[in-house]
Amino acid sequence: MAMADTAVNPHPADSAGTEAPNGSPYLQVKALQLGYRSRKTGEFIFACADLDFTAHRGEFVVIVGPSGCGKTTFLEALAGLVPVAAGEISLGGKKVAGPGQDRSLVFQNASLFPWRTVRDNVLFALQAQRQLSAESARQADALIELVGLGHVSGRHPHELSGGMKQRVNLARALVTRPELLLLDEPFGALDALTRAAMQHELVRVWQSAGLGPAKTAVFVTHDVDEAVYLADRVIVFSAGPGRVAADLKISLPRPRRAEGRRTPEFARYVDTVLAELLGKSSEVTPAGAAAPEQRETEQAEAGE
Ligand SMILES: Nc1ncnc2c1ncn2[C@@H]1O[C@H](COP(=O)(O)OP(=O)(O)OP(=O)(O)O)[C@@H](O)[C@H]1O
Ligand SMILES: [Mg+2]
Repeated sequence: MAMADTAVNPHPADSAGTEAPNGSPYLQVKALQLGYRSRKTGEFIFACADLDFTAHRGEFVVIVGPSGCGKTTFLEALAGLVPVAAGEISLGGKKVAGPGQDRSLVFQNASLFPWRTVRDNVLFALQAQRQLSAESARQADALIELVGLGHVSGRHPHELSGGMKQRVNLARALVTRPELLLLDEPFGALDALTRAAMQHELVRVWQSAGLGPAKTAVFVTHDVDEAVYLADRVIVFSAGPGRVAADLKISLPRPRRAEGRRTPEFARYVDTVLAELLGKSSEVTPAGAAAPEQRETEQAEAGE
């Protein structure tokens, strides 16, 4: 498993919530309503109601919320796969009207072609977008190395562990160099150890300078520990139809280490997210307004 921290970090710890070069957020969601029309009754059933949400370029946003509150529907709408019923989604000032090469979606279960090797599964994403060239294939090989799969590049999916398959999934999502990476419980099916390793790997790969400009990530999980470990911001959705119940800035410095999960500060964030999930507002630090002790830490870091 490749764990070397060779990547350069283009996302400094204080990048969360900073303005994009043009001063506007990269991802903007305004009064968004999403849902499905019942085939039986014709009735429109809301999955998300009146969602308002913004994210800046390079931010790692994690969404948590009760089952059925519309998290998957929301990610699919960001990917352009679910139509917008009302309101608007825009990326870099352009309205989302369907799928695009600027976005990649990673699902919970790796959906790899069983007859293709690891390398060919990754190259397929480039083929599908008509981006396959000698240069892009070379970059795909570098990415396969980066996610720690160089030694199994010629193997088929049935010869891989669950964690390896999710690495292929991740490489396939990243190879087209999307600006927005959407991940729907990608580690939900993994055992605890593999899951912790994959969280570390995901951040390392997300921060890799070799993958072009800073990527914005929207990651859905049920695991509050995972949310705090990964996020610049945790968005808590209310029970369905989903609304933003809380928007919490996670000011833990990066790179985050496994030991960091045992600190009182980490535990406080976990408690805060849990309290919001359970509908109680305690110890809430709204996004953009760090608690006094966090501000002191940030100032100290900025002065280094
Ligand atoms: N294809 C569909 N057709 C009709 N209703 C759907 C469809 N997909 C989802 N829904 C409904 O939309 C609502 C939101 O579903 P969604 O899958 O987005 O929830 P979720 O927050 O991702 O849940 P979970 O945490 O269990 O994955 C649910 O009430 C669900 O039944
Ligand atoms: Mg879901």
